[in-house]
Amino acid sequence: MLLALILLQGFSHALAANHGSHWTYKGPHGQAHWSDDYPDCGGQAQSPIDIQTKSVQHDPALPPIEPQGYRSPGDGAFTLLNNGHTVEMSLPPSMFLRGLPQTYAAVQLHFHWGSRGQTGGSEHQVNGEAFPAELHIVHYNSDSYANISEAKQRADSLAVLGILIEVGDVANPAYDNIFDRLKNIQYAGQKVSIPSFNVHELLPGQLGHYFRYNGSLTTPPCSQNVLWTVFRQRVRISASQLERLQGGLYSTKAANSLPVPLVDNYRAPQPLNQRVVFSSFPVGPSAYSAGEIVAIVFGTLFGCLSIFLTIHFVVKRIQTKRIREQKDVVFKSSSSRAVSGDSHRP
Ligand SMILES: *[C@@H]1O[C@H](CO)[C@@H](O)[C@H](O)[C@H]1NC(C)=O
Ligand SMILES: *[C@@H]1O[C@H](CO)[C@@H](O)[C@H](O)[C@H]1NC(C)=O
Repeated sequence: MLLALILLQGFSHALAANHGSHWTYKGPHGQAHWSDDYPDCGGQAQSPIDIQTKSVQHDPALPPIEPQGYRSPGDGAFTLLNNGHTVEMSLPPSMFLRGLPQTYAAVQLHFHWGSRGQTGGSEHQVNGEAFPAELHIVHYNSDSYANISEAKQRADSLAVLGILIEVGDVANPAYDNIFDRLKNIQYAGQKVSIPSFNVHELLPGQLGHYFRYNGSLTTPPCSQNVLWTVFRQRVRISASQLERLQGGLYSTKAANSLPVPLVDNYRAPQPLNQRVVFSSFPVGPSAYSAGEIVAIVFGTLFGCLSIFLTIHFVVKRIQTKRIREQKDVVFKSSSSRAVSGDSHRP
């Protein structure tokens, strides 16, 4: 009886936890404590991860991602919502993905970012490098499930596209479709509708090159049912576009007298554990950045020059030594001849 009561209590506690217990990125409800209320967050196959390219396994059978219906996603409008954790835009199931093991229909997209003056902001990292922001486009397995709510807690149910965002010199007009509306949804719970636009333009140009691994949602409940595709090519936005994302939103409601800026909504990289990260492209020397190539070229030149100079000086020293020895021999033999005369000749 007592046991049943305890079990029941535990069960209702778990249910309460699963129905939206408060979480944040920092502080007493921060990411280190997510697993108290959401046990999956402490699992062995969590996201995001730091992709170490030297440990990535090339799988030449991985085909390019083929987004369908992304260019003209219907006549309807999208809804953009500040949910207190991120800015999220609803997507219609007429948008879906091919090039994955099953068909995945679009559900929503959202962003992760840092704060002004800080370098990080992305969730995924590559060789320890974080980027200023990251776009996630969430899809559910529409071959196996009727809708996202049915798919959510099940296996093989979600596919997320991860797009790393960096800062360049020019504005990216596709992103302004979203960023221009942020001023209308400054506070948590606020929504605005956006006329539908070409979502394909939010993607990087090269959809054939990506990293693939099994992971989780990067926010509670951290369900471990996400097939991740993180594109190798980054998308560029301008510094002022990034600042609008970093500086325009609050994680608190409009009525709250102490507004809290919505910044640094990214989770730290999680242990890879037994998982393998695959790449659709060979991760070779071509994966080096321009800076690294310059460093390698100069490093090699400098190395060759040092070896050359070392050899040069060593050879020169040996030569001078030989010449000196020869002179010594000539001097000694002539002097010995002079001293000893011809008498001691054998
Ligand atoms: C999702 O699908 C299930 C099963 O078909 C159905 O009962 C439920 O009402 C659907 N939910 C939504 C939000 O459409
Ligand atoms: C993901 O997990 C499934 C089921 O265990 C497995 O069949 C598949 O190969 C894994 N995919 C990757 C990319 O690791």
